[in-house]
Amino acid sequence: MSALRFSDTISATLTDGVLVVTIDNPPVNALSADVRAGLMAALDHAEKDGAIVAVILTGPGNIFIGGADIKEFGKPPVEPLLPQVIARIEDFSKPVTAAINGAALGGGLEVALACHKRYAAPSAKIGLPEVKLGIVPGAGGTQRLPRLIGAAAAIDLIANGRIVSAGHAHKLGIIDSLIENSLIDAAIAAAKSAVDLPLRRTGKLPVPEDSKEPIDKADADALRKARGQHAPAEAVRLVRLAATSSLGEGLAEERRIFVKLRDSEEAAALRHVFFAERTAGKVDGLEKVAPRKIETVGIVGTGLMGSGIAAAALNAGYRVVGIEQTHEAADKGRDRITGILDKAVQSGRLDMAGRDDRLGRLVVAADAQELAQADLVIEAVFDDLTVKTELFQRLDRIVRADAILATNTSYLDPNAIAAATAHPERIVGLHFFSPANIMRLLEVVNCEKTAPDVLASALAFSKRLGKLPIVCGVTEGFIGNRIFSAYRREAEFMIEDGALPHEIDAALEAYGFPMGLFAVYDMAGLEIAWARRKRQAATRDPAARYVTIADRLCEAGRFGQKAGRGWYSYPDGKRTVDPEVTALIEAARAEKSIVPNSFTADEIVTRLLKAMADEGEALLAEGIAARAGDIDLVMINGYGFPSHKGGPMFAAARR
Ligand code: 3HC
Repeated sequence: MSALRFSDTISATLTDGVLVVTIDNPPVNALSADVRAGLMAALDHAEKDGAIVAVILTGPGNIFIGGADIKEFGKPPVEPLLPQVIARIEDFSKPVTAAINGAALGGGLEVALACHKRYAAPSAKIGLPEVKLGIVPGAGGTQRLPRLIGAAAAIDLIANGRIVSAGHAHKLGIIDSLIENSLIDAAIAAAKSAVDLPLRRTGKLPVPEDSKEPIDKADADALRKARGQHAPAEAVRLVRLAATSSLGEGLAEERRIFVKLRDSEEAAALRHVFFAERTAGKVDGLEKVAPRKIETVGIVGTGLMGSGIAAAALNAGYRVVGIEQTHEAADKGRDRITGILDKAVQSGRLDMAGRDDRLGRLVVAADAQELAQADLVIEAVFDDLTVKTELFQRLDRIVRADAILATNTSYLDPNAIAAATAHPERIVGLHFFSPANIMRLLEVVNCEKTAPDVLASALAFSKRLGKLPIVCGVTEGFIGNRIFSAYRREAEFMIEDGALPHEIDAALEAYGFPMGLFAVYDMAGLEIAWARRKRQAATRDPAARYVTIADRLCEAGRFGQKAGRGWYSYPDGKRTVDPEVTALIEAARAEKSIVPNSFTADEIVTRLLKAMADEGEALLAEGIAARAGDIDLVMINGYGFPSHKGGPMFAAARR
């Protein structure tokens, strides 16, 4: 066995006439210019050396190839381009096998699709997630995948950017064999025994005949979820094209669309989101701080929020101790958590063994002393300062000296809660979003006295839960609710200024929000915010602009969808513009002598974006949020802001 090097990132060894080419380009083995050039050089070598009978491509560690190098997008292209490398692989005179040791994503899977055989470790992840970056596969994915697995399955994977396990990919026909152990040895042995067999070139295969219905269904499903993004629709069109055109024609059209989308605003926005996600949760100076060990999580309060947090912690492998005030409430809490797990079983996301394993790690008790064993206790009780401070004082006496205490408050001041305890340095905020077992967003609140290793532990915990942690300082409503308040306030100002609720909602929905603001109000119910406004009335600045319309709606019993009427009315459950609401708005304007203006959809969106971005700038200036990208992620993951617009900070800066 001799070692060869073809570029900084491409090396190879020769074993019994089989050239094993290893791509080593940390951190994710992206297909950079050096990788592409090195692969070409390795193939040149294999072509010329008569002693080489077959080639294997593989990667080190747990990544085969993570895709094209996204950091090269926007820079002048450097030859060889990926489609050229891929064509060379497919047309190669000697068998080329992909030994997929780990993630084969985007361009990585496209390389593998051009190989003549694909073997994979069961742990490998397979997919073409390009639509998540606002683009389509640009190196043959839309043309070769349907030739292997049919158009319906290819649409499902490509237009949704779905990543599947190697086992699933094997069932679909993407992977020829799953290899439990010694992937490379198995691939070498198979390559040697197949040297004289004809090569199976994916691009030469016909697209298998699928009946029309599954293709139409995959198409409709993907487009429904796309919420106005362009890439999924283009992906569907390109996959359909594979069945009716030659490989060359299909590849040319795919490349054209890839380049067009790559240079689009939508792709720039989604790349911003991608890199913002990779940076989120990073805190300067915290890299070297070791988190505390967390194995047992206590949760005080097992209502809607607490039970969701419990399910998330159980899913992540923690032991969970839920605490309620009475045995009856504890039983109910346990039922609630069991119900969440049962739902996951019904939907096929969890099997019975997984459910039972989780329940085996769960205790729900009426005795707070059980929390003596917890490494982290999260309170999810009624959002009232007296209730919470008393609870934390009690917890202080029960838990171990090294245990961490977290509050899930949405609006209270965690510094005030911490100040009431003997050890404010062990207090941190963990603001989950409901349902906590589903929502990815988690605001991790770094309080005035939070110790660095407590913050590091909270971040490690949140990552293990599979959440997207965003670190923020203490302010009313943290990042999300503070920006949401500014957004809501501006929308209500605009109503007074002349827009109608359905005009604002239509503009927001056309922009990409799943639901307009006023429709969301109606769905959530208007009474809780009304009660809060009434509580705050005494301390409100009388000089500040205050819109009374929401109060008037509540006074008229229009509490939202459940009441059948709110900002809209709901005859037969259908959201309908109600002249009574319009009259009420007109009366409120007249009372303040406001002459209504009319607003275009673009003006509505611009004004709301500006309100959000201004509040975001204030959060940055106050040091509450560390990065504009963090604010974007909060609004995308917690408040329905369309990800393909990049979040309010990104979008407002582009206007
Ligand atoms: N290009 C350039 N940099 C990339 C990258 C890529 N394709 N993928 C990840 N990175 C960077 C990240 O920004 C991060 O950088 P940082 O350390 O400076 O913050 C670093 O690599 C590590 O990334 P993760 O934290 O995400 O690492 P994980 O180990 O958690 O996950 C992964 C690895 C599953 C490969 C994940 O990084 C991922 O999903 N990457 C993107 C995959 C993808 O979308 N591929 C398609 C690219 S487009 C394409 O291929 C076009 C083609 O069709 C022509």
